Amino acid sequence: MTKDSLAVTDNRTGRSYEIPISDGTVHAIDFRQVKTSDDDFGLMVYDPAFTNTASCRSAITYIDGERGILEYRGYPIDQLAENTNFLETAYLILFGELPTRDELDQWTHDITYHTYVHENIKKFMEGFQYDAHPMGMLVGTVAALSTFYPDAKHVDDARSREISTGRLIAKMPTIAAFAYRHSRGLPYVYPDNDLSYAGNFLSMLWKMTEPKYRPDPALERAVDILFILHADHEQNCSTNAMRAVGSSRADPFSATAAAAAALYGPLHGGANEAVLRMLTEIGDRKRVPEFVKRVKAGEGRLMGFGHRVYKNYDPRATIIKRAADEVFQVTGRNPLLDIALELERIALQDDYFIQHKLYPNVDFYSGIMYQAMGFPVEMFPVLFAIPRTVGWLAQWREMVQDPEQKIARPRQVFTGPARRDFVPIEKRNSRREDAA
Ligand SMILES: CC(C)(COP(=O)(O)OP(=O)(O)OC[C@H]1O[C@@H](n2cnc3c(N)ncnc32)[C@H](O)[C@@H]1OP(=O)(O)O)[C@@H](O)C(=O)NCCC(=O)NCCS
Repeated sequence: MTKDSLAVTDNRTGRSYEIPISDGTVHAIDFRQVKTSDDDFGLMVYDPAFTNTASCRSAITYIDGERGILEYRGYPIDQLAENTNFLETAYLILFGELPTRDELDQWTHDITYHTYVHENIKKFMEGFQYDAHPMGMLVGTVAALSTFYPDAKHVDDARSREISTGRLIAKMPTIAAFAYRHSRGLPYVYPDNDLSYAGNFLSMLWKMTEPKYRPDPALERAVDILFILHADHEQNCSTNAMRAVGSSRADPFSATAAAAAALYGPLHGGANEAVLRMLTEIGDRKRVPEFVKRVKAGEGRLMGFGHRVYKNYDPRATIIKRAADEVFQVTGRNPLLDIALELERIALQDDYFIQHKLYPNVDFYSGIMYQAMGFPVEMFPVLFAIPRTVGWLAQWREMVQDPEQKIARPRQVFTGPARRDFVPIEKRNSRREDAA
């Protein structure tokens, strides 16, 4: 017997099997040979929500949740946040290596000159209700982009993938800003190619009558850092949606719309909004101890604390906290910050939170910062979707070229009725399971 294997005995039959272990995993398909008889389908593994299932091999993002480590292509997130701009990190995530000066200049130029959207996209967006949620508008509009670029369906063609990648990264801020302006009843602002990726986004959001919008450098840098921190996070819910939809060879615009739809959910893209609501409800730092007591008594959760993967301080939270200080110097202090700092101070020395390994996550500070910058809460998931588009696309490109991948198609454990004969309508009683 080789060392890198698992010895499995099926107590139903007394038979033993040797299951190979590679890269710290066993292959689920190897369990299919475990059968009670020849006509048995074979053993499946059951893992709702994929809590212990690797769905792919990936060389993009590494997370060690126990130690609070996040790396893109091997580079620690803090070094990237400190030393690169968002497009430089995007290049790294997408193409595997940091760009040379020439490569970065070319890449920046390519993205900057594709920020305009077709005028019909603008008209399409004008058709949304005046109070449409900006994230709903983003999801719908990104899906509509596929109809403007029908060639994007050639997903096995490297050149087609390149063009779609550039288009999506370039146009996402434009669509996001148009969605925001629409929800405010303001005219859309066209992209300004003189500005940086983050600076142009701010211009499209906030420009009014001035002939040229000049972003505040501290805010521009803060947005850039937030974009770097949110660019990828390996196999999260929206990335899984991107890969699953892309696995059917749908075009990347449609797959990105699906990923954005997954991000729309409050459990994924909405946690920072919940943090703001919680801080507002606490209202005063003096009431923090009482709130923590209630959380410990099981009355609600401390929002922005805890993470499925991180069982240590989320490395992104440390960086955001620093960036938030710089933003507050420009915008003035957000009164919720004092409550947040007190909450963090008390929670980090409380036995309950220490024992449960609950530390602040990325959402604990991002909401306060977005609010200080003037973003309404509905824009929070939109702000997340812009940089995450880079991660989605990198993961999609990896998936499309991975010979081990096929159309994503999980199995199920069937729990419905066994075969039964058709009942004519006059003989049926109402027995719907969900009937009141
Ligand atoms: C992020 C989150 C969903 C991860 O959940 P998870 O890994 O599935 O962990 P569980 O929900 O199983 O929680 C494990 C234990 O910690 C407790 N716990 C987890 N997060 C908690 C929080 N924020 N406040 C108080 N207790 C918490 C649970 O009550 C549970 O306690 P128990 O074992 O005594 O019953 C969870 O920590 C949470 O709800 N956090 C708040 C929301 C949030 O910030 N989400 C953003 C994530 S980026």
